[in-house]
Amino acid sequence: MRSSSRSVIRTAVFPVAGRGTRFLPATKASPKEMLPVVDKPLIQYAVEEALAAGARRLVFITGASKRAIEDHFDSDQELEHMLERQGKSDLLNQLRSVLPSYASCIYIRQPAPLGLGHAVLCAQPAVGAEPFFVHLADDLIRGEVACLAQMADVYAAKRASVLGVEVVPRKDTEKYGIVAVEADRSTTSRVRSIVEKPKPADAPSNLAVVGRYVLAPTIFEHLERIGQGAGGEIQLTDGIAALMREEAVYAYRFSGHRYDCGSKLGYLQATVEYALAHAQLGADFRRYLKQLDVKAAVRAPGGRTRRSAGS
Ligand code: UTP
Repeated sequence: MRSSSRSVIRTAVFPVAGRGTRFLPATKASPKEMLPVVDKPLIQYAVEEALAAGARRLVFITGASKRAIEDHFDSDQELEHMLERQGKSDLLNQLRSVLPSYASCIYIRQPAPLGLGHAVLCAQPAVGAEPFFVHLADDLIRGEVACLAQMADVYAAKRASVLGVEVVPRKDTEKYGIVAVEADRSTTSRVRSIVEKPKPADAPSNLAVVGRYVLAPTIFEHLERIGQGAGGEIQLTDGIAALMREEAVYAYRFSGHRYDCGSKLGYLQATVEYALAHAQLGADFRRYLKQLDVKAAVRAPGGRTRRSAGS
C-alpha cells in the first residue's frame, strides 16, 4: 500500500467500543476488531492504513472486552525472547513491526456504547484542535494507495472535512449514512445533505458513507450538542449534518475495494481474497480452492458435503 507524503494529519481515532452483535458469540469475550483476516487482526490493518496516511498518534476508544487490543499493541518480551531462542527471526520481525517506535497509542474508555458520535466525542481530549482521521476497522479497504492517505490528500487540497463514500445497492441504504452531493459523478464533491440509515424510498441517493473520515476539530462542538438520533444512539452522521451548516464537508469516492467485515459474508470474502493475495500462502490456497471444486460441492441435508458425479 503506498502512502501519502503531504499529510498534515497526525491523529487517528479508532472507535472500537461497539459490541459487535452481528458476530456473536465470537465477539462475546473478544473484540470484533481482533478477528483475524488470514494472519493479522482487523485493527492491525487499520493501524497500518493510518500510519501510511501519516498518522503518528493512535487513539483507541475502547469499551467492554477490549483488553486484547491493548495487549496486541504492547510489546511481549517473553514471547520475543522465546522466538529469539528458537531462532524464528522472521516471526520476531513481524511481531516487532506490529507497532513502529515512532507511533504512540492512547486508550480512552467509552463508558457505555452510546453510539459512534459519542465514541468520537470521547477522543476530544487526545485530539485537541487539529483535524483527525476516524477509522472503523470493520470496513477493510484494499487498494494501491491507503484509503486514508487518499483522503489526506483531499483534505490538503480542500482544508475541510472529508467523508469516504461509495455507491451501494439502493436496498442497502438502511445500513449506512447516505449523502446527497453537489456533483454526482465527481470523485470529490461537496456534501449537500446527510441522513443516517434512510429507507430506500427516502434516501437522497445511494452514495453511502463508509468507515473513513477526516474531520475538522469543530465537529466536537456539534457532537456535544446533538442528542440521540437513529436507534437511540448519538450518531456521528447527525454531528456531521450540524457541522455542514457552518462549514463545507466533502464526499470522496475512494479507489479500492471495501469488505464489510462487520458482516459474516463480507468477512469471509475478505478472508478468501486476502488469502489468495498472500505472498506465502496464495499459491497453495488457490490450488486448494481449485481442488475443492466449489461449484460442484453441494450441501447435503445432513450437513455433509456431497460432490457431483466424477469428483
Ligand atoms: P457498528 O454499527 O458496526 O456496531 O459500529 P457494532 O456494535 O460494532 O457492531 P454490530 O452492529 O452490533 O454487529 C460502527 C463502529 O463504531 C464503533 C464500533 O466499534 C464500530 O467500529 N462504536 C459503535 C463505538 O465505538 N461505540 C459505540 O457506542 C458504537
